[in-house]
Amino acid sequence: MSKQKSKIAVLTGAGISAESGIKTFRDAGGLWEHHDIMEVASIEGWHNNQALVLNFYNERRRQLAEVQPNAAHKALVELESRYDVTIITQNVDDLHERGGSSHIIHLHGELKKSRSTVDERLIYPCPGDILPGDCCEKGSQLRPHIVWFGEMVPMLEVAAEAVSRADLILIIGTSMQVYPAAGLTAYASPNIPIFYVNQKPMLNYELENTRNLKVIPENATTGVRKVVDELIQIN
Ligand code: APR
Repeated sequence: MSKQKSKIAVLTGAGISAESGIKTFRDAGGLWEHHDIMEVASIEGWHNNQALVLNFYNERRRQLAEVQPNAAHKALVELESRYDVTIITQNVDDLHERGGSSHIIHLHGELKKSRSTVDERLIYPCPGDILPGDCCEKGSQLRPHIVWFGEMVPMLEVAAEAVSRADLILIIGTSMQVYPAAGLTAYASPNIPIFYVNQKPMLNYELENTRNLKVIPENATTGVRKVVDELIQIN
């Protein structure tokens, strides 16, 4: 019987994709600096102007086709040889998939999928644009398979379960400001180590009250490399 692998829950945000060339949301020049969140990433925005919302995600999907996973995405895959790794990402890009990670939970949806607006179980691959008039098999307009502000986070329970089982948590490139994702560390066992890799770390309430927090104030590509090397060495 092989020894049970220690479990690592990795919580990622836009900062892990920044060095691949994808804008974050709240940094200077970020996505939310040039778009009104409520216009393009809320259910109200969708009801007000579907074409505007479709175009916003079409632009992001076209940009995603031009970029590649970076060294941070790839370093996480190396962990899988020694640990049972679950990636819990707030990102809607597919860079963790393309980087080779095996077990990925998307909390805020996936850019390269579309969904029916009459039956949310109808989800389709979406490599290209979604246009007004593109319909699901039941004849309803397709929408991006994205969790918008004001909508429930369907994968939250699965993610919380993964965090509660983890022996170690690695947080990478997220401002930890958007709940419920930002509150996931509250589900962790109280004494496990939590690593936080962030170019400009800011601690939210949960992290400020975390006992075994180790902050690595570096870019994802260098910071994740260091943490992965350390974790591989000890296991
Ligand atoms: N390396 C490491 N961290 C970085 C890098 C980098 N190269 N570049 C930026 N960061 C950090 C920033 O310091 C910031 O803390 O990444 C974080 C990005 O924060 P946000 O832009 O708020 O992105 P994120 O935390 O993923 O946002 C969460 O908000 O708008 C919603 O649904 C959207 O999933 C998103 C959620």
